[in-house]
Amino acid sequence: MWRYLRAMSSIVTLSEFIMERQADFPYASGDLSRLLADIGIASKIVNHKVNKAGLQDILGAMESTNVQGETQMKLDVFADQALLNAVRWGGQVCGAASEENERYFAFDTETCRKSKYVILFDPLDGSSNIDVNVSIGTIFSVFRRKSSVGDLANVNDFLQRGAEQVAAGYVIYGSSTMLVYTTGHGVNGFTLEPSIGEFCLSHENMRIPEDGKIYSINEGNLYTCSKGVQTYVDWCRQNDKKTSRPYSARYIGSLVADFHRNLIKGGIYIYPGTEKNPEGKLRLQYECNPLAFIAEQAGGLATDGKQRIMDLQPKELHQRTPLFIGSKNMVERVHQMIAEYDQAEIKN
Ligand code: AHG
Ligand code: MN
Ligand code: MN
Repeated sequence: MWRYLRAMSSIVTLSEFIMERQADFPYASGDLSRLLADIGIASKIVNHKVNKAGLQDILGAMESTNVQGETQMKLDVFADQALLNAVRWGGQVCGAASEENERYFAFDTETCRKSKYVILFDPLDGSSNIDVNVSIGTIFSVFRRKSSVGDLANVNDFLQRGAEQVAAGYVIYGSSTMLVYTTGHGVNGFTLEPSIGEFCLSHENMRIPEDGKIYSINEGNLYTCSKGVQTYVDWCRQNDKKTSRPYSARYIGSLVADFHRNLIKGGIYIYPGTEKNPEGKLRLQYECNPLAFIAEQAGGLATDGKQRIMDLQPKELHQRTPLFIGSKNMVERVHQMIAEYDQAEIKN
């Protein structure tokens, strides 16, 4: 059917694209392709639920005789279970870890034990925005397992540096729903076409502009950030026509949505260490690593203010890290300022 559709138009669906790109991996068995397709299906299930979020109370009352508790389920728990089920029954991963669960899961089925990959995800990012109808997302990160094929997954499978990722992506549930992913061969974006229920290639080979005019930070925290971060934000606000400043401040409060906008338009997203959270708020394995992989593959950068995000060695599952991510020149500039001002502060 899709071949027919394609002959009729220039539509390339996510599944077609994944199959075509399998040739990028010599000796690939197709497992990673199937895993990406499973994630695509899970995200359509989540998307359906997200679209109905505003009707939750009304439908909840109407569906009260349905599966017990289902309508009362919080959306991030629903998304978590949708993803866990998709990857467990898809059989392409031996384990999964998610922001919503304290421990990782080792899937004890014959197919899963034999599989080569593990997945980590933030099932619903920006969950505080659900009730107010603002864009939210799902973020995922895939690694080749460290444990032996046939064994149960163990913690070392989940504590790998971001540089070891084999695939990463996100889904944004926005004015339209998009899935953006990389397998280390560039970044491609797909928009969900609701009338046919398929993700269709809409943003081929995405590149982030080297410079941007948008900075995204929760400025409410600014005076509890380091001197270097304060100096950079102040620099962004200064009036200088030659460098197109002042920049625009844009902060949605959903990392996926802020990152997605900056990826397309150029910009920097900052979640630094603060007095309250010295290691920042965002999670290295579920949020920062996957977006760092995408940023770098699109020509941008991601650091913790001192070093590359993807070089950080995770010590625990839910580790947090400061994040500076986006257009190359912007991330480099904030880095210089951090080095200059924060180092000076440490010496004094
Ligand atoms: P999550 O909903 O998965 O817990 O993530 C929320 C994160 C991220 O999406 C967002 O950028 C950040 O929290 C916003 O934090 P502040 O409200 O502190 O700015
Ligand atoms: Mn999140
Ligand atoms: Mn979340």
